[in-house]
Parts: sequence; C-alpha cells; structure tokens
Amino acid sequence: KLGGRAEEMRLKAYIVGGFVRDLLLGRENEDLDVVIEGDAIEFIKSWEQDGCRVAIHKKFKTGTIVFPDGKKVDVATARREFYEYPVAQPSVSSDSLKHDLYRRDYTVNAMAISINCSTWGTLVDYFGGRQDLKKKLLRVLHNLSFVEDPTRVIRGIRLEQRLEFTIEENTFRLLVNCIKGGLVSLLSGVRLRSELELIFKEDAPYKIVKRCTQIGLWRSLFPGLNPGRDTIKIMRRISFFKRRLSGDLPSMAGADWLPYLSALVSESHRDGMLSVLDRLHVSDKERAIVIESIDGMGSAEHILGGRGEKPNSRIYEFLSKVHPAIALYWAAATNRWRVRRRILLYLTRLRKIEPMLIGRDILDLGYREGPMIGYILKGLRNARLDGLVETREEEIEWVLK
Ligand code: CTP
Repeated sequence: KLGGRAEEMRLKAYIVGGFVRDLLLGRENEDLDVVIEGDAIEFIKSWEQDGCRVAIHKKFKTGTIVFPDGKKVDVATARREFYEYPVAQPSVSSDSLKHDLYRRDYTVNAMAISINCSTWGTLVDYFGGRQDLKKKLLRVLHNLSFVEDPTRVIRGIRLEQRLEFTIEENTFRLLVNCIKGGLVSLLSGVRLRSELELIFKEDAPYKIVKRCTQIGLWRSLFPGLNPGRDTIKIMRRISFFKRRLSGDLPSMAGADWLPYLSALVSESHRDGMLSVLDRLHVSDKERAIVIESIDGMGSAEHILGGRGEKPNSRIYEFLSKVHPAIALYWAAATNRWRVRRRILLYLTRLRKIEPMLIGRDILDLGYREGPMIGYILKGLRNARLDGLVETREEEIEWVLK
C-alpha cells in the first residue's frame, strides 16, 4: 500500500533501520520506519483521506500514520543531520537516502529496502550491513558516531546482548573511549532515563546490566552505584516472573521498569541511590516507589514471613497498600521462599478477589447508607479471601450474622 502511494506521488520510499535488520535475521519487529526521498509531509498527509490518523512534525519533516487497524508507521524525509556540537538536537536539511543511512548508528541498522512497486524488495546496503549481520558484528559507520550521539553506546550494549552479537574491535575501542572521555555522562537525565527504560523492556535486562558493569558504564554514569551479584539475581527473578506470570500480573502502566531500577540501586549506599534518582529526574511518585521498595523490604519479610499459616486476608491487607511494582520487587529480592510465594499469590490471585455482593445489595439487606457499608464489604472480601464464604447465599448469611 505504502509503496503504491509513493509510486503515484513520484516519491521513493524505503523501509529502514531495525525492521530491515530483524527481517534479515528472521526476528519479529512491529516498528515500521519508512524513509521518503522527497517530502514526507505530503506523503503522510495523503493518507488522511484513507481514514488514517496522521501526526506531523513540520520541523523535522517527519510524522506518523496510524492505519484504521491500529498499525503505525513512522515516516521521515531522507535527511542529513548536522550536529553542531555533541548531544545537540539535530537540525535537518533534505538530502538523499545514502546520507540518511550514513547518519545512523550501526551498519546492521543502516540498510534499507525499497517498497516502490517497480523496485519492491530491493535491499540497499551501502555500508556492508549484510556482511556484518552474517558475522554478527556491530560496527559504527564512522569514528565520530558515538560523539554525535552517545546514547549509541548504551544502544550498542543493548543490541549486543539482545542479538548475541559482538561489538567490532574498532567500534569497541571508540565505545570505551566515549565512556572514559565522559561523553556518555553528558547525556541529559531524560535521555538516560529513556535508555534505561529500553534496557528494562528487554527480555533479559540482567545481561545488559552485567555487561555495562564490565565495560565501566555504571561507574562513569552514576558514581556510587554498585550493581553486583544480588542485583543480577533480583533482575533475573523479575524477568522470570514477568515471563511466567505475564497474564496474571497486574498491569503497571508506566511503572514496569521500576522493579528493575530498584534492583539496580539495591546494593548502593543511600546517597548512591538518591543520586541515581536525582540524575534520572524521576517523578516524585516513581521516587517514592523505589525508596519504599528498598526501605520496606525488611518489614515485608517480617510481616509476610513465618512458618505458620498466614491468612490470605492478612497478606492482602499488607500488600494492597503498596504499588504492585513494589510487591514485585520484594518478591524478587527476598531470599525467603515463603515470603516470595505469598507475594506472588497476592499479585496473581488475591488482589483480584472481590465479594459477590455490591453496596446496593447491602442496602437491600437493611443497612443504612454510610461508612458501615464499606466496612461490611471489606469484611466480606476478607471472609472470601480466607475461604469462609463461597457462594452469594453464604455472603448474605455472613452479612446478616
Ligand atoms: N538510530 C540511530 N541512532 C540512535 C537511535 C536510532 O542511528 N541513537 C537509528 C538506527 O538506524 C535504528 C533506527 O534509528 O535502527 C530506529 O531506531 P529505534 O526504533 O530506536 O531502534 P531499532 O533499531 O528499531 O531498535 P529496537 O529493535 O530496539 O526498536
């Protein structure tokens, strides 16, 4: 579809970047990035009449098309970026595909596939990306790549670990120099945060974290941060829980990365932890989640531990007061299996349990409106959690008693 439209408009269109890489590797990738030689804006706008939603950034000559089925495509004008100084916002001027590809991070990400009808499927590979893909190598396109954009250091380590590639020798030297020279630490808190979030979205963040330690990235980014064996162990558990219990775990909206962040700072002194949170400009709410994850660990183990029976209502009462991201961290960080089992029971089952009766029903049973209704419903939930009531009739009986 995209190619046909480009053809009609006499534009050249290509799929570029990670999608091409993953296609050649046979890996799934949903993020379609299209580059247009010519003006992408007109191209993007033309989809409005087809019932698509479009968003346009005039300044960067880029935009997004959202198709009626929800599929999203990012479209950019083939461009060349001039970095006036490191870590600056790029300014844009129109230029050809080759330049566009040349400004990218690694050769394996700098390939394109034509989607115009006449040349559909032709691979454009100016910089040996195909070859590097075969050799499983990450190679920068030129020696200033990391200077232009130091986030590529972190992206590189992330890709290396995800794809099980090797960072090519010269690239590795440049990468390490970029860290040692302090360029990565110049990144803004916002960009650092988003790179960390990307790491924590991977299937196995612990590998990346380990590699970052080895290369000296953490030391340079956050003096005082000390991720060691415990961090790795906790992160492995978090990933394991997410994988095994995915459907049953609560959705954490934007807080998914926080259990990992808590693990990252878990072995640091308090000052170290606080300086990481400051540096990343986390929100007050996020900050509170991380701090409670670390500080509340002891009392969680105290309250949720112990050999004897622990009523479900007691587990519920304690854990329903904290954000699920905190509970997930505790489940991963504790070495006491009873504590872990109880938290996972809460996260996957107990937290969803509600009484069958609702407020209206309690009123119908003769109670007057007021705080009492809330107490009764809470009591009912506890009774249900502890297995004292199962059916609706039993609930009614419980209320009347
Ligand atoms: N890119 C770059 N330098 C960066 C970020 C991105 O050169 N700092 C280029 C790469 O060519 C990359 C493309 O922009 O392939 C798209 O970026 P993004 O979607 O972030 O990355 P993907 O390579 O698709 O990686 P992922 O699989 O993690 O989404």
